[in-house]
Amino acid sequence: MKYFIVTYGCQMNVHESEKIAGILEGLGYEEGKTREEADIIVFNTCAIREGAEDRVLGNVGNLKKLKKKNKNLIIAVCGCMTQKEQTAQKLMNTFPFIDIVIGTFNLPKLGYYIEAVKKGRQLELFSEGDIDEVLPYKRTSGDNAWVNIMQGCNNFCTYCIVPYVRGREKSRKEENILKEIKEIVAEGKYKKITLLGQNVNSYGQDLTPQISFAKLLKDICALDGDFTLSFMTSHPKDLTDEVIDVIASEDKIEKYIHLPAQSGNNRILKLMNRKYTREKYLEIIDKIRAKIPSCRITSDFIVGFPTESDEEFNDTYDLAERVRFDSIFAFMYSPREGTVASKMEGQIPDKIKHIRVNKLLALEKKIQKEDNKR
Ligand code: SAH
Ligand code: SF4
Ligand code: F3S
Repeated sequence: MKYFIVTYGCQMNVHESEKIAGILEGLGYEEGKTREEADIIVFNTCAIREGAEDRVLGNVGNLKKLKKKNKNLIIAVCGCMTQKEQTAQKLMNTFPFIDIVIGTFNLPKLGYYIEAVKKGRQLELFSEGDIDEVLPYKRTSGDNAWVNIMQGCNNFCTYCIVPYVRGREKSRKEENILKEIKEIVAEGKYKKITLLGQNVNSYGQDLTPQISFAKLLKDICALDGDFTLSFMTSHPKDLTDEVIDVIASEDKIEKYIHLPAQSGNNRILKLMNRKYTREKYLEIIDKIRAKIPSCRITSDFIVGFPTESDEEFNDTYDLAERVRFDSIFAFMYSPREGTVASKMEGQIPDKIKHIRVNKLLALEKKIQKEDNKR
């Protein structure tokens, strides 16, 4: 029996697909090379922007033919799209040939659902599980091993769906993280370890006793073994001097920070609920560059947030020009149902979003060209 997994979205999802592969191999499935030869196809979905959801819908629709040819084919859809009850319902109604629709919180029960489907039942459930639940991973990212240190997000940036589909912030216990990393190092196959969380800088704030992200980094670096450590994603409001100092002083930590700015305009940052100002962001960048001159810095930006004027976009452009990021991701704002920003007046037409995103990308290209020349 063979499985085929299709993954959308962020590194969290890539890592979650390793969990799915682990579960399936535990049930006796082997990895298949194509959808055609698979006995089970799993779509691990993303809901961050409309485009991401549209791609999933198109590709799931295409499976109808395969299902016709192979009546025993099991099709499962999981991930951030399915954690939204409305979307999950819509998926099941539009594509009645899907066997399993399972939310992010219920992934550990995937094996149970597969067995249930084989017995001819269709089930779905929404509830939150335990982050320290141990599941087998089938690591698939070459010499990089992903390690989840927390899940969920408490920040409720007004544009973002993540807190709704991933729940509140929950940190794993430090001892469990250290144990997992020791095992990874002992395997001897991995040169790089990447810690994952939506906002790694607030790691440990929900634990008793509390522990800081800086302390976790130090404790990981103190482990024996030859590995490079990196992490994502950092939220500027929680990036402490202590973390910058640890990155600077620990040889094992990669000199790289992904620090999404989202906007360079204070009014828009406030509307986004990002909880820092343009000045504060630039101050952090200065600190990083002063303490770690060789540090690569990358960022995310959203253009066309509701009510964003041309002048306000120019502030974003100006910030990107000042910082000269090593690379940036620029996204057109996409309204997500249920979020605060989707209900705001002054939604910006796509045409304008396109112009702004292209301006930012052209700037990035220009900067990279100049840097390469140097
Ligand atoms: N936790 C990370 C971001 C995760 S989402 C952080 O806070 O930085 C990755 C990126 O997608 C975000 O940084 C943002 O730039 C973008 N994004 C999130 N929601 C979006 C939306 N509704 N429309 C467009 N881009 C969005
Ligand atoms: Fe979304 Fe903001 Fe949380 Fe990042 S910090 S996941 S952008 S709500
Ligand atoms: Fe997408 Fe979910 Fe990641 S919405 S970006 S897969 S946390």
